[in-house]
Amino acid sequence: MPGLPVTERLVIAIDGPSGSGKSSTSRGVADRLGLAYLDTGAMYRAATWLVLHHGLTDPDVVASRVAAAAMDFVTDPSAPTISIDGTDVTEAIRAPEVSRAVSSVATNLAVRQDLVARQQAIVAAAEHGIVVEGRDITTVVAPDADVRVLLVADPAARVARRQAELGDRVDHAAVTDQVIRRDRDDSTVAAFTEAAPGVTVVDSTELSLEQVIDVICGLVPEHSGA
Ligand code: DC
Repeated sequence: MPGLPVTERLVIAIDGPSGSGKSSTSRGVADRLGLAYLDTGAMYRAATWLVLHHGLTDPDVVASRVAAAAMDFVTDPSAPTISIDGTDVTEAIRAPEVSRAVSSVATNLAVRQDLVARQQAIVAAAEHGIVVEGRDITTVVAPDADVRVLLVADPAARVARRQAELGDRVDHAAVTDQVIRRDRDDSTVAAFTEAAPGVTVVDSTELSLEQVIDVICGLVPEHSGA
């Protein structure tokens, strides 16, 4: 039937480095298409919050404590939240100490295995479909997604965006560290700097948020002519 989606459930996978505009873009796409939204980075951040909260350092202890933790999400793109072991950490996971420590948890392979399985379960349970953002979504979490995008932007633009988000709370050197050093560390375990076969690269450097959302919605066959 013309005008009706070909796929009943639409899965959109969006990878990219810090400051590429992934979160705002993914939420905007989910909102426009009426899909759920999952920020997998928030899961790594919540695990890191737990690890810092309990003062854990040993990688095996970290992995087993994270595996035992309950994580709950609200996947509404207009108000996403995340809780771990019953504590809502939506705000707390954005603290600088979590940003500084998150790569060490995200590079723990046992933690990754656990969180990837949880992410795949959330994708499978999304009734009408979902937009999932992260670093390994197009390659590991949802390689069969209907739309697969690698969102990139020049390093200077990414640092400037993160600085604008964080404001004067964090100085320029710390923001540069968060964006550039973290990507270098993270890229040792997730290949998000180059597009895998079949993944569309979208460069957001010169585009507004609305333009990036338009481009990605245009990749959905049913919406390309809308
Ligand atoms: O996107 P973000 O800055 O909130 O991500 C937080 C951290 O988690 C970052 O260090 C990258 C890592 N991450 C990952 O390794 N794999 C994902 N799918 C998502 C995030």
